[in-house]
Amino acid sequence: MTLPARVKVCEMGPRDGLQNEKAVVSTEDKIAYVNLLSEAGLPVIEATSFVSPKAIPQLSDATEVFAGIRKRPGTRYVVLTPNLKGLERARAAGADSIAVFTAASESFTKRNINMSIEQSLSAFGEVINAARLHGIWVRGYVSTAFGCPYEGTVPVDSVVRVTESLYKLGCDEISIGDTIGVGVSTQVHALIPRLSDIVPLENVALHFHDTYGQALANVEAGMQEGVAIFDSSAGGLGGCPYAPGASGNLGTEDLLYKLRGMDIETGVDLARVRAASRFIAGRLDHQLPSKAYTALEAASA
Ligand code: COA
Ligand code: ZN
Repeated sequence: MTLPARVKVCEMGPRDGLQNEKAVVSTEDKIAYVNLLSEAGLPVIEATSFVSPKAIPQLSDATEVFAGIRKRPGTRYVVLTPNLKGLERARAAGADSIAVFTAASESFTKRNINMSIEQSLSAFGEVINAARLHGIWVRGYVSTAFGCPYEGTVPVDSVVRVTESLYKLGCDEISIGDTIGVGVSTQVHALIPRLSDIVPLENVALHFHDTYGQALANVEAGMQEGVAIFDSSAGGLGGCPYAPGASGNLGTEDLLYKLRGMDIETGVDLARVRAASRFIAGRLDHQLPSKAYTALEAASA
């Protein structure tokens, strides 16, 4: 089993993180937050979300945020788009990378985007086609791949089916999400070889939440199976408004601490990620859950 020499870290804080926060964060602070993350050298930052402002009021200023951030050369700024309207808004703002999202379980898809999985795939087919026509890079998310808040266990076959569909529709990268953070490493070992039959693993990312403290073990399992792209969120922000009880994403600091210790290259400056976390922590009404962030802050106090 060989581990990757280099891992691509995709930062979810400004989107997956902030979409779940109750405290209103100003547009100016969101822009400053993304800029700090850019300065850390993160190769991918999910900057905001062009979804319905009724669904996610916190991110209703997507246009202003996207326009206001400094785009660092070498960083890809991804924005979430649930439909053609979202794509149009994203294009008008100048985005060159989008993400579409469906799930491996029906009930979650219904609550999240008010569609069946089948309907979502056909709707996203249109979004992906339109995006590719304009040379836009597309990421696809498969949520609830390791468990669903409404249905419990999610069969591996469902994950494989949805992933294959997104890949065939033209996604450049597909992120397999443990939206509620319930999965364990044996599930990762069981799933990835099945996915590698249908999608090259260099196009597959893993997206873990740390609800049950399993995220880093799952990253390890993913690396052992040949995955080298992982999503995480500065300070461990995050959750999902449609997934009761789900806690934050795997903390970017936790991921970077592990990878640095294992001599796996990321090109990301951990101290600068902490600076971004420290900044946003001052705008929120709670402590950040990331263990590495908390420990490093305490050690340097
Ligand atoms: N941007 C802005 N407004 C949008 C929009 C978009 N991308 N998509 C839809 N809307 C608006 C419509 O214009 C309409 O407004 P109106 O009531 O003033 O006419 C309203 O939202 C409802 O539109 P409709 O097409 O009926 O969609 P819906 O209510 O079935 O919602 C989604 C479907 C997908 C747009 C919505 O559920 C959504 O944005 N979900 C995002 C969920 C999310 O981000 N989850 C977390 C990420 S995992
Ligand atoms: Zn997530």
